[in-house]
Amino acid sequence: MNFYDSEKMTDLLKPHGYQLDEHEDDADLIVLNTCHIREKAVEKTYSELGRIRDKINIRKAITGKRSIVAVAGCVAQAQGKEIMKRSPWVDIVVGPQSYQNLPELIAKVDPVNKNKNINIEFPTIPKFDQINANIQERGPSAFLTIQEGCDKFCTFCVVPYTRGAEYSRPLTSIIDEAKKLIDIGVREITLLGQNVNAWNSKGLNNEDWGLGKLIDELAKINELKFIRYTTSHPLDMDVELIKSHRDNKKLMPYLHLPAQSGSDYILKMMNRKHTAKEYLRIIEKVREYSPKIAISGDFIVGFPGETDKDHKLTLSLIKQVNYAQAYSFKYSKRPGTPGSVFLNHVNEDTKNCRLYEIQELLRSQQLAFNKKTINSIIKVLVLKKGKKKNQYIGRSPFNQSVYFSSLNESLIGSFIDLNITEAFQNSLTGNIVSDF
Ligand code: 5AD
Ligand code: SF4
Repeated sequence: MNFYDSEKMTDLLKPHGYQLDEHEDDADLIVLNTCHIREKAVEKTYSELGRIRDKINIRKAITGKRSIVAVAGCVAQAQGKEIMKRSPWVDIVVGPQSYQNLPELIAKVDPVNKNKNINIEFPTIPKFDQINANIQERGPSAFLTIQEGCDKFCTFCVVPYTRGAEYSRPLTSIIDEAKKLIDIGVREITLLGQNVNAWNSKGLNNEDWGLGKLIDELAKINELKFIRYTTSHPLDMDVELIKSHRDNKKLMPYLHLPAQSGSDYILKMMNRKHTAKEYLRIIEKVREYSPKIAISGDFIVGFPGETDKDHKLTLSLIKQVNYAQAYSFKYSKRPGTPGSVFLNHVNEDTKNCRLYEIQELLRSQQLAFNKKTINSIIKVLVLKKGKKKNQYIGRSPFNQSVYFSSLNESLIGSFIDLNITEAFQNSLTGNIVSDF
């Protein structure tokens, strides 16, 4: 989502004379978009800010020009005042719900007596109504935010505090953005939301629509070929969406459905509102409708109170699901969340051991899933050139990176059938069968 927000900020600033620069060294404006989800991400904000200070000082000394520094995203939202105190070279702090005001805030920065601007409100007018419709460059694959915020309040998570209450973007606004993306050459759209499958809105006939109906509507756009969505919550996995995985050929066979733990006790303490059995039942149902679907998930090890027995239950759930891909993290204490004041915090060594065990299991499952594709023909969307000569990188319907070679110079954005020859942990290689 931060990636999407960064693209939107770039779009917003273009009409004000800014263009994207890969390097900070001679940038007039540096926007650091930040993540608050785990402590490590927050630490990175402050170390990056130190690096940025050095860059802007060097630029000032050499050219006499001042750079404007803005901190955006969830660390800005949660620690705005502290950022200004700890890093006085920052001019602007802007939260994830207010970045539509960035051009205004920049205009207010006095180049000589750099005055500070903080904008970290949750505005009453959702930003989507204000974001400039001026969509600039995208590759063949783009993100589109349809939902933001979260009302679930998992006890480990800062999202409800940094991104605010659940909000579903209206249908017409989503379709409008999708069409604009298609017009500039996008062929794959990933619908985004912290709780993407909680999306709901009035449909075309004023009926209540959920994500399944929205995907079916988007699939009517001819040039849009691949549709994805992330991230989902098990509680909002309704039958309509599950059926779309069978009936809608443009909806990719990939589901990212975080489980977090396989222990009912830990799930309860996490306030996940589902049991391990309920999670497994959803996966079973999804596979009934889409047998080949790639299942992905998120796991947290070392949540307060997690015992060896709880950990084994997580390993057992992972074995039962057999994931195609998954992310796993050590529990990170987040200030202001209920989990941070729970007793029985798990020590770091135990967390490390548990993380290692889980990741080894997930790694072997991922490799096995990838190996199953050897000798099959897979249609991929060509995303970009690879590092090697004549090499391209595409994405498979199962969200795998696929490497292949071609002398054809203009394949980016097209769909190619590849015969898969090799499979690794994080990628596949293949040979072209046909272009179409
Ligand atoms: N500690 C560790 N992992 C976390 N996540 C969210 N909050 C925390 C935390 N405090 C993980 C969850 C979530 C993913 C985006 O990040 O697994 O699904
Ligand atoms: Fe955080 Fe997801 Fe739980 Fe919401 S559902 S509180 S975003 S982990």
